[in-house]
Amino acid sequence: MKSLFGKLADGTEVYSWSLANGGTRMKVLSYGGVQSLEVPDRRGRYANISLGFDNIEDYVAKSPYFGALIGRYGNRIGKGKFTLDGKAYQVNVNDGENSLHGGAKGFDKRVWDVEPFTKGTDVGLRLYYTSVDGEMGYPGTLKVKVTYTLTRHGDWRIDYEATTDKATVVNLTSHVYWNLAGEGSGTIENHQLKIDASRYTPVDSGLIPTGELARVAGTPFDFRRTKAIGEDLREPHQQLLYGKGIDHNWVLDKGISPRPEWIATLKDPSSGRTLRMATTEPGLQFYSGNFLDGTLVGSGGNVYRQGDALCLETQHFPDSPNKPSFPSTVLRPGQTYRSTTVHSFTC
Ligand code: BGC
Repeated sequence: MKSLFGKLADGTEVYSWSLANGGTRMKVLSYGGVQSLEVPDRRGRYANISLGFDNIEDYVAKSPYFGALIGRYGNRIGKGKFTLDGKAYQVNVNDGENSLHGGAKGFDKRVWDVEPFTKGTDVGLRLYYTSVDGEMGYPGTLKVKVTYTLTRHGDWRIDYEATTDKATVVNLTSHVYWNLAGEGSGTIENHQLKIDASRYTPVDSGLIPTGELARVAGTPFDFRRTKAIGEDLREPHQQLLYGKGIDHNWVLDKGISPRPEWIATLKDPSSGRTLRMATTEPGLQFYSGNFLDGTLVGSGGNVYRQGDALCLETQHFPDSPNKPSFPSTVLRPGQTYRSTTVHSFTC
């Protein structure tokens, strides 16, 4: 079911699509991704657990990627430069001297073609976008298909696919800001998190990985056993100072896997809502909402402040095009980029 959400300045209509299955309800915008996601708490009460806006103008003017589909390259590329097959490329720089989330007009700021489907007991949407050769500086025409599926158990699965007509780099992800107590309800510092990763990628002051795969043991980055997000967030660790909190990529112990494997669990003790994530990807960016600064009013009418949500972005590692030792993000003609992430909700 779709309804008109608003219009872009050039008159393009943006639709909001509603889906529900297995106790999960979601709304998806044809402009870049998830608008809201509702699940019950342990007493059966629903809340929207994903930050967003109630109007298209705010998405266009000021969204820090709320709920967004991210591409072509999720996360940062140092100075927006890389060399591929001996050719140097300069992609759009939009984060200090670096490129973030595909540049100033990434996939989050595009209108996707949306097609609903039902398949057995699943319901879902297929989202299509073609990124032309040279868009934001990236080589090759990239045809992207993203499938959002809600299963009869209420799981939300994302399948990403892309093909290209020239060698290029691709790293697609989803940028939902989670607050399992409900968007606008306050800090996520009491949420409990577990990440199955023994290493992470430390960064420089511009949040570009140094190339090292550092051990989490004995650092605030150790989430191998469940702990509250706020527990070590104020330790004077250089990496936390660089990120203004946590804004780092975890190197998942399972590595790249042909099928999604469970890698993280997030729980809000107050509501009982729990999110488990599985992915085929080798990395997970955990961002603790550090740059939410009290200047945005969310869909429920409340101001979002620092730490009012967190993102868990499944991905290849940041700056992989410049780090030969990291798993490759190169896609060539004839190959199909594939990536899957599953979100499972319980309470
Ligand atoms: C990045 C942050 C960035 C945020 C944008 C995250 O994925 O890791 O550094 O500020 O997106 O809101």
